[in-house]
Amino acid sequence: MLGTDRREAGGEAEGAPAIIHVENLSFRYYGSEQYALRDVNLVVRRGEFVVLAGRSGCGKTTLLRCLNGLIPNFYEGEMLGRVLVDGMDTRYTPTHILSQAAGMVFQNPDNQLFALSVEADIAFPLENLGFPREIILERINWALKALKIEDLRYRSPFELSGGQKQKVAIASVLAMKPKILLLDEPTSSLDPVSARNLIESIVELNKREGLTIIISEHRLEHLLPHADRLIVMDRGMIVRDGDPRKILRDEDLLVYGVAPPKVSEVARCVNAHRGCLKFEEIPLTVHEFVEKVRRLIG
Ligand SMILES: Nc1ncnc2c1ncn2[C@@H]1O[C@H](COP(=O)(O)OP(=O)(O)O)[C@@H](O)[C@H]1O
Ligand SMILES: [Mg+2]
Repeated sequence: MLGTDRREAGGEAEGAPAIIHVENLSFRYYGSEQYALRDVNLVVRRGEFVVLAGRSGCGKTTLLRCLNGLIPNFYEGEMLGRVLVDGMDTRYTPTHILSQAAGMVFQNPDNQLFALSVEADIAFPLENLGFPREIILERINWALKALKIEDLRYRSPFELSGGQKQKVAIASVLAMKPKILLLDEPTSSLDPVSARNLIESIVELNKREGLTIIISEHRLEHLLPHADRLIVMDRGMIVRDGDPRKILRDEDLLVYGVAPPKVSEVARCVNAHRGCLKFEEIPLTVHEFVEKVRRLIG
């Protein structure tokens, strides 16, 4: 499935109801003079796969914190506007309720894992919320299977590789059965092979389980082909939002610190030469590139 054009594969989110509304959102951390988010407006539909990009410090983590209610419930500061997640206003909803609608996976899995076994780590938040034992076991089985990590069940999280740890962190969030999965640069501590493997798992969660995914990432190469939408942020604002193939056609995103896949750069160079080849939509994978060239010269 990897390497296939998402719209040929269905484009399931189109026409689906909205699950996140961000309205005129600005946020300034306590003690800071600058706003970390400035007048952000965003609607995300159920089942959408959204990639957040932009240089370090542009506000990606802050926006994700607003989507799972850590802002304004945990981080102090000044918040203007409002955020609705699955119909709940984050200002008036406790984080343990919000986390069952929008689960967050953080950059460093070590901050999310602390139990003696993978199973216990996945069970922990459910036990805290008082779920019955049968449900907890059912959820553990399902989450391990969804991430294809059944073999890690009785292992200690501390002896796992970075990629395995990150999958366990995702499984423990998934066990809450959220509709939305928020991931904050989940591959940043991983080697390229583990990063690609993790991205494949995340893509599958979107396709198979229908989860709405919002992921901030620097490595766009393997992620962008599966994204419905690319959102680029700069200094706390959303500066681009749309179909990645169209955004990459019109824009050189390097000004915002976003490096597109190499094959997209080649296509842009071809377009710049105004020869007989012109890509109306910029290919994101080698497969798409070859297919488009074949059609253009065929
Ligand atoms: N806990 C915090 N307290 C104060 N300022 C913060 C905090 N977290 C982030 N910031 C500031 O908010 C801005 C946006 O940061 P962040 O959301 O972490 O961006 P990104 O995730 O895109 O790197 C930056 O100027 C950063 O220094
Ligand atoms: Mg960040």
